[in-house]
Amino acid sequence: MSHSPSPQRPHVTWHAGTASREERERLLGQRGCVVWLTGFSGSGKSTVAVALEASLLAQRRLCYRLDGDNLRHGLNADLDFSPEARAENVRRVREVAALLADAGLIVLASLISPYAADREAARARIGQERFLEVYCEAPLEVCEARDPKGLYAKARRGEITGFTGVNAPYEPPTNPDLVLATHGQSVEACSASILALLQARGMTYT
Ligand code: ADX
Repeated sequence: MSHSPSPQRPHVTWHAGTASREERERLLGQRGCVVWLTGFSGSGKSTVAVALEASLLAQRRLCYRLDGDNLRHGLNADLDFSPEARAENVRRVREVAALLADAGLIVLASLISPYAADREAARARIGQERFLEVYCEAPLEVCEARDPKGLYAKARRGEITGFTGVNAPYEPPTNPDLVLATHGQSVEACSASILALLQARGMTYT
């Protein structure tokens, strides 16, 4: 991994090491990559990521979850839900994901990430072959009926403004690597589909 000089930081240069991602990947017997789960709040992104994490660990795969809600307790605690703050949220998660993937981990990023351009920037940063966009496509009506945190009800009552799907946009992926019907399939089936995709793409090879 290296960076070209940026106009904002003309006096900062990249200091290369001698250990490579390939060496770390050989050590782990897997390729560093990012499974990026996108979809409405309540669409099952985090639930699927938790199940997938357990399955990967059972297969002795080193993985790590980056959960949008959880990261907003720390790294992203200063960000609200304006379009600009969401773009910054996604930018930070993509940068952390890129570092962890460079370390050789299978990263499971679950966040609404409503804007296609932000997700495409993540794909470009992480690399086409290492970025697997998974669309958790439970429709809004289903997510709203589930309303696990009571947030849709609050948004409908006007107690939350700019809530995704209610009064803020969600741009569905146009060419995702995988679509999960998270309203019609079990969590285990969704997790198994992602495991199969990781295998098919050669991310888990020993
Ligand atoms: S993102 O849009 O910036 O990618 P992220 O996944 O980090 O969102 O956080 C979404 C979570 O924050 C939701 O699951 C929900 O629990 C909570 N939340 C609070 N306010 C909002 C809002 N206005 N829109 C969407 N989610 C919200």
